[in-house]
Amino acid sequence: MAYQILMPGKTLFGIGAIEGAGSDIKAMGTKALVVSGKVVEKSGIIAKLTTVLEEAEIGYTVFTDIKGEPDDRMTAAAKERFDQEGCDLVIGIGGGSPLDAAKAVCALSGYPPLVLIPTTAGSGSEATKFYCVTQSATDTKKLITDEKIIPRLALIDPSLAFTAPRSLTAATGMDALTHAVEAFTSRKATPYTDLFALSAIRRIFEYLPVAYEKGEDEKARTEMAFAAYEAGICITNASVTLVHGMSRPIGALFHVPHGISNAMLILKCLSFAKDGCIERFAEIGRALGAAGSDAECADLFFIQLEDLCRTLEIPTLSSYGISAEAFFEKADKMAEDALASGSPANTIKTVTKQDILKIYADLWTD
Ligand SMILES: [Fe+2]
Repeated sequence: MAYQILMPGKTLFGIGAIEGAGSDIKAMGTKALVVSGKVVEKSGIIAKLTTVLEEAEIGYTVFTDIKGEPDDRMTAAAKERFDQEGCDLVIGIGGGSPLDAAKAVCALSGYPPLVLIPTTAGSGSEATKFYCVTQSATDTKKLITDEKIIPRLALIDPSLAFTAPRSLTAATGMDALTHAVEAFTSRKATPYTDLFALSAIRRIFEYLPVAYEKGEDEKARTEMAFAAYEAGICITNASVTLVHGMSRPIGALFHVPHGISNAMLILKCLSFAKDGCIERFAEIGRALGAAGSDAECADLFFIQLEDLCRTLEIPTLSSYGISAEAFFEKADKMAEDALASGSPANTIKTVTKQDILKIYADLWTD
């Protein structure tokens, strides 16, 4: 069967990517809405971009009111600024949240050219056709799929993540790993996504612990930035599965950052899926150096995954401060929302609402 290959129109990858992008951006528009958050602004990263815009004589206005994961009110305010200022180009700069917000503004504004500049190695948003916006009226995190918001230009400078705190490095890195493993074990996996998935998984197991320990390790940050990009291409073409399906409701209702809720779920969800595609998990194990039967190689992957979660000090729901009572009260709605997102149906093994409820309950057993 024919399969699709989607990726950004152009990508500049490496330290100095922003500084070298003036002429590319100039060819895309005359006035940019720069969508970001306050933390990115304080770090001086936006100033790096605006210097390039000024040198290339590109007009801009900076919108930094994306506070955490975007909701419909934030994206409406950004879109209003786009219109008021007569912009014809959107540049998202920051972690997954500002990039998602920039995609939403792009869609709301009739799809002007879009530039995405990630400052963390995780969401892979710079390479995906997805974004999430929380609907404030219902507290539901809505996943939107739209090929037209794959950016025309992705600028990936691994040094922008040098100052990311350890917990953020862990959460975002685990998000990227989740993308790669989910795409590899998705019903929609293709030879093209397999290539990137195994490559990303290898890089993440080797370099995420290094980046976590030593934030300014250039090699580790570069490998992680590339792995996140690879994993983003994977999910754009092969989709996410059960982990993301179950993770979004936890994020929306308990305000757990996306990468953390994925990391809380990844072991239990993949353990559930394991017997549905043991040979795929075995292939991952072999990519990580395992030899032997499918069962042995798959087991090695699960052992290494558990080790990685321990090394990165991934919290549990209770250690994160969520009460079991509040969680179980919402479990039914979360299971409904997870299924409604469509992601669990991409899992090779069939997933029912009862399966989802059991996994949610199992998160409280250790
Ligand atoms: Fe994700």
